[in-house]
Amino acid sequence: MMDYIQIFNAAPDVEASAPGRVNLLGEHTDYNDGFVLPTAIPQHTTVAIGRSPNDRHHFYSANLEEQVDIGPSESTPTGFARYVDGCIRVLEQSGHKIPPLNIFVNSSVPIGSGLSSSAALEVATLRGLRSLLNLNLDDVKIAQLGQQAEIQYAGVSCGILDQMASSLADTEHMLFLDTRTLDRKILPFPEGAEIVVIDSGVARSLASSGYNQRRAECEEAARQFGVKALRDVSNPQVTDSLPDPIRKRARHVITENNRVLKVLDGISAETFGELMNASHASLRDDYEVSVPALDQLVDILQNTPGVFGARLTGAGFGGACVALVRLGEGKTIAQKGLTQYNQLGHKGLILVG
Ligand code: GLA
Repeated sequence: MMDYIQIFNAAPDVEASAPGRVNLLGEHTDYNDGFVLPTAIPQHTTVAIGRSPNDRHHFYSANLEEQVDIGPSESTPTGFARYVDGCIRVLEQSGHKIPPLNIFVNSSVPIGSGLSSSAALEVATLRGLRSLLNLNLDDVKIAQLGQQAEIQYAGVSCGILDQMASSLADTEHMLFLDTRTLDRKILPFPEGAEIVVIDSGVARSLASSGYNQRRAECEEAARQFGVKALRDVSNPQVTDSLPDPIRKRARHVITENNRVLKVLDGISAETFGELMNASHASLRDDYEVSVPALDQLVDILQNTPGVFGARLTGAGFGGACVALVRLGEGKTIAQKGLTQYNQLGHKGLILVG
C-alpha cells in the first residue's frame, strides 16, 4: 500500500482520523429532529495533509489507488474526492482561506455498509484542516460542516447523526443525542453486553432516492399534524388519521423516538434487546427500508443464544446489522450467525465481534 511520501515526494504536515459509526437505536429519526444512539466502531479513516507545491489540490485514495487533481475554479469532482473537496468548499463558504493541498486518504471503514464511511472521511478531513490551519472549530461545528458537505456536494439530504457520531462518539460508550438541540449524554453500554456488527454483503441500492423519498413523506406527515417536525408528536395513535404510506412512516419515527428515550431510564440488556427487535420490525414493516437478506440475517441473530436483540443499522436498503450480545460472547456469536447466514448463499462479513 502506498503512503503519502511515495505519492507526494514529501512528508505530510498533519495527520488526523475519525471513526465509522453504528447506530444502536434511533434510525431515520435525525432528519425529524429526533433522538439517536450511535457508538463509534474501531474502523476509521485517516488523512495526511500537506501543502501542494502548485496551485491545485491533489487528493489520493490509497483504497482506490486513485488520484484526483483540482484547480482553483474547477467544478466539484465525483467519487471519494467530492467529500474531501466538499469539506474544503464549506470551509471556504464560511470565510476560511484554504491553500492548495495534498491530501492522502486511507480508510478501514467499509463503503456502502451503512457505517458512515463518508462521515468518517468528512470528519477526518475537517480535523486535519483544523490542525493544519489552526482553525477555531469545535467538534460540533466539525460535524455540522461535514453534514453540509454531504448535503451540498454528495446530494444526500442526510441528518446530523453520522457526522456527530464520527466527531463525538467513542467505541466504549453510546452517544445519546437530541438532534434538535444537540444536547447529548455519554452512556455506558447496557450491563453485561457488547455489540456485534455483520455486513449483509448486499450493497445498498436505491439508497439515496428511497432515503430522500422517506424524508419527504415525514415532512408531509409533520405538515399534516401542523408541527415543525415529527419529533413534536409522541403518541403513535394519532397517525391513524393519516393516509398510507405516510401513516406508517410517521408511526415508525414516533415509536422509534420513544424507544430511544426509554434507554435514558438505564434499562437492562434484555429490555434494550427487545427495543432493538421492535426497531427492526418497524423499519421493515412501517418504514419499508429493509431487504430480504437483512431480514434473514436479523432473524438468525435474534434466534442465536446469547443475543439480546438485533436490527438493521444505517439507512437500510442493504448494508449491515447490529446485535447486542452477552459480554465476552461476541466473537462466537458473530461466527455462528455468519456461518448460518452464508449457508443461505450470502457473502456476509463480520465487522465487529
Ligand atoms: C444515513 C444518514 C443519517 C440517518 C441514517 C438513518 O446514515 O446519513 O443522517 O438519517 O441514514 O438513521
